Amino acid sequence: MAIQESAFQKCMNPGCGAEFECSASLFKCPHCGDLLDIRYNWDRVAVPKKMSDFAGRWANRARPLDFSGVWRFRELLDFCPDQYKVTIGEGQTILQQNRAIAEHLGMKPDCLFLQYEGLNPSGSFKDNGMAAAFSHAMMVGAKSCACASTGNTSASVALYAHSCGLKCTVFIGSGRIAFGKLSQAMDYGAQTIQIQGDFDDCMRQVQAVCTELGLYLLNSLNPFRLEGQKTIMFRIIEALGWDVPDWIVVPGGNLGNSSAFGKAFSELQQLGLIDRVPRLAIINATGADTLTDLVNNKHLVWNGGRVDQKIIDDYYADLTARHFSPHTCASAIEISRPVNLKKCLRAIDVCNGIVRAVTDQEICDAKALIGKHGLGCEPASAATIAGLKNLLAEGVIAKDERIACVLTGHPLKDPNVTVNYHKDRQGPFSNPPIEAPNDLDAIIKLIR
Ligand code: F0G
Repeated sequence: MAIQESAFQKCMNPGCGAEFECSASLFKCPHCGDLLDIRYNWDRVAVPKKMSDFAGRWANRARPLDFSGVWRFRELLDFCPDQYKVTIGEGQTILQQNRAIAEHLGMKPDCLFLQYEGLNPSGSFKDNGMAAAFSHAMMVGAKSCACASTGNTSASVALYAHSCGLKCTVFIGSGRIAFGKLSQAMDYGAQTIQIQGDFDDCMRQVQAVCTELGLYLLNSLNPFRLEGQKTIMFRIIEALGWDVPDWIVVPGGNLGNSSAFGKAFSELQQLGLIDRVPRLAIINATGADTLTDLVNNKHLVWNGGRVDQKIIDDYYADLTARHFSPHTCASAIEISRPVNLKKCLRAIDVCNGIVRAVTDQEICDAKALIGKHGLGCEPASAATIAGLKNLLAEGVIAKDERIACVLTGHPLKDPNVTVNYHKDRQGPFSNPPIEAPNDLDAIIKLIR
């Protein structure tokens, strides 16, 4: 029976396809355990005729929902009445044209754009998703919530939870989280549980805990979170004068962003709000490259929703047999069992996407380049520029295509990686402090 609301949840497994109202609090299909997707009955939503119609909202920005970079596009994620919508001012992010980095990469100077999601209230893109997911949590009357995290999710969840008055528990792997992020979770008052294991272990445990204790889960398994993350693409289109770029480049970890971006473009095209879909480049770290391996070497594809589960199961069984744990300095994307894998395959299909992996050295050099010529970012975000550099060299991306790289987190999230790069002279952009005696002449000599 088709659900008559403007939005509903639907199991992605074509053999199941169960549908649920948005008022249900689920994070997996209760029948088959597959991922849930938010679907819309678009004829019941007052969608604008063209994207530029959203521009009028800015004039009303004294209203919190029109100020929010998520909710000012609310017709495109219409799953919740306004009375439940949560905002703490997320999405005031910018798309910076960066000529210096473009020139460094040998690109046409006006073709490179950096989307700074580190400017969000908790310092990462996660706030886009949390605005949406916490709205859903309020709608279903949740009182306690939880997440597993490599750091940014925990910071964002902790911030939104105390804003909404929800009790909050975050699970992190021991020794696997950057200091800036851990400090946020503690400062924002979350109960922080450090598990002896990696992110994938935390992800498994948090699902069991949420099921057992009835906590509201805020990882990107939660389909409402991805609805909020779609708006990163709407804001890129907005910043380009309501035009789409040729490529979106995004780091790949748990694959929530890439999944959300593909869904955003697919829906915009379906609604006639864009006339072409950009290509998507998803960049892993080589020490956590499950997606790259599965897509490029094992030829895993979306296949109209009939994904070959055996390829995935065999791959994970091999990881288990080898006691494999991912390792990268980009701790945010140190993930080997990405929960949104299937949704990401759909995004690759929609956007004619590609996947690549970059080394930690390439990530650190790219990060320093972004710091030198831009506003800076954390290591995982810099995988985008490192990946772009390689894709230009491969000839997959042309020098005159318009590229938007999503810089997912703020540079102060992970100061250790930055300090070590510069102090230990780890790469060509290292800029260590110069030791000087406490003597004016000597100091002046150094500066001259
Ligand atoms: N960049 C940053 C800064 C992140 O924190 C994450 C994910 C990603 C990229 C990867 O995004 O999962 O959508 O592919 N961080 C999660 C966390 C896993 O727990 O904070 P994705």
